[in-house]
Amino acid sequence: MSDFTSGFWPIYISVLTLVSIIGTWVFLKSQTTRKLAPGEKAELMEHTWDGDLQDLNNPLPRWWLGLFYGTLIFALAYLALWPGLGNFAGALGWTSKGEYEAEVKAAEAKFQPVYEGFMKQDIMTVAANPEARAIGKNLFLTYCSQCHGSDAAGARGFPNLTDADWLYGGDPDSIKATITDGRAGVMPALGEALGTQGTKEVANYVLSLSGRQHDAAMAAAGKTKFAENCAACHMPDGTGMQAMGAPNLTDKVWLYGGSEAAVIETIAKGRNGVMPGMAQTMGTTSNKDAKLHLLTAYVYGLGGGVAKAAEPAPAAAAVEAAAPAAPQAATMYFDTGKAEMSAEARAALQSIIDFATANPDARIAISGFHDATGSAAANAELAKNRAKSVRDALTAAGIAEARIELRKPEVTTGGGDPAEARRVEASIM
Ligand code: HEC
Ligand code: HEC
Repeated sequence: MSDFTSGFWPIYISVLTLVSIIGTWVFLKSQTTRKLAPGEKAELMEHTWDGDLQDLNNPLPRWWLGLFYGTLIFALAYLALWPGLGNFAGALGWTSKGEYEAEVKAAEAKFQPVYEGFMKQDIMTVAANPEARAIGKNLFLTYCSQCHGSDAAGARGFPNLTDADWLYGGDPDSIKATITDGRAGVMPALGEALGTQGTKEVANYVLSLSGRQHDAAMAAAGKTKFAENCAACHMPDGTGMQAMGAPNLTDKVWLYGGSEAAVIETIAKGRNGVMPGMAQTMGTTSNKDAKLHLLTAYVYGLGGGVAKAAEPAPAAAAVEAAAPAAPQAATMYFDTGKAEMSAEARAALQSIIDFATANPDARIAISGFHDATGSAAANAELAKNRAKSVRDALTAAGIAEARIELRKPEVTTGGGDPAEARRVEASIM
């Protein structure tokens, strides 16, 4: 294959090359035919330097000429065998592409059996295999790390793949479908429909869903707007819908940020995250199916994989069932230096109280956290007192103290920004 755009240039260049080589040959020959006859002295040129340095016109040494002719013969032989003269491919038919393809073929032949072996195993088995994980990691670094980070922890707009929070599902089939065919999240821009005030109200309602600081009056006003504009995708209780890629808005995981400003921007302008389909990106890459299989297993094994697809709730039934399903955990946030529960924290605990009341066997674990400011001893005490006030709220609601366990976390400094750090987590055991 040639990069020339017109048939003239390759011929022009070939002729120029050959004429130069032949011309050099003729020139050398014409200048060096004369040898000194025996006894003949070289011609003395008319120059002298410093009175005794003289310039003789000696013929060129034969060995030097031999080298010169040698390079010309080499050039001709090279151009006959390998590509170099315009479009002429050379008698050996060598191409850099051919060499590359031969190397790829050799590598494929070497890895083929390995890939085939993994293709026969299910994702969970492959995910547990260290060799498969090593290959998967390399593939991830090649195809995925530029967006999801080399540790797969993601960034703003690019989901974290190491946690158990999934936009589209964390079971093997869902992960494989995501990677193979790609996904396009469509969060419509609703700023115009809701107006500035309406957007702010819905945003505050969204913040209240995960127990973040919010304006209670605005949130109350936003509740009906949420039901009208958002529930179709995010569900009436805000827990999201994987079939749509609509995120759960009641947890602490944010794709685009959980500040009031970020949530307002999301609602007003919409969001359109796109995960490219790797089947297309990889094109004709060899062992493509096996690579997708290994990538799926690698992502599955990063920590958030779930065994099988969650039964998708029929949409109509879900709309009726506005009450939240059994809560696994609730988070209560506290003011700086305070161990008293705010009205919002009490509201956040209500789902746990309701569940524990309806399920007398359920036990509850409580862990308190503090932010990173202040003295360690005072903070540890504060985290404990926060946990105790949650316990007291539970016993006041009629839940036996024996069913409640105060659990000191290994690290009592909470993660996230200070407002997120000052919290108590209550979970059903
Ligand atoms: C060009 C950037 C880009 C590349 C490259 C990319 N992704 Fe993604 N990926 C995204 C975005 C953006 C999303 C979120 C889509 C959305 O917001 O709906 C996503 C979503 C995902 C999800 C769904 C996560 C969930 O919570 O359900 C998985 C799994 C995933 N990517 C895996 C991969 C793997 C594996 C690769 C490499 C083979 C890869 N991605 C390459 C941008 C990328
Ligand atoms: C057509 C379905 C649909 C509707 C209606 C919808 N959303 Fe979304 N929403 C999505 C999808 C899909 C995403 C994820 C976008 C992405 O992956 O890029 C999203 C993302 C979000 C996020 C970002 C969450 C995060 O983790 O950063 C917020 C907040 C949000 N929506 C709130 C709302 C609110 C409030 C409304 C109503 C005013 C609403 N959405 C209406 C589908 C919808």
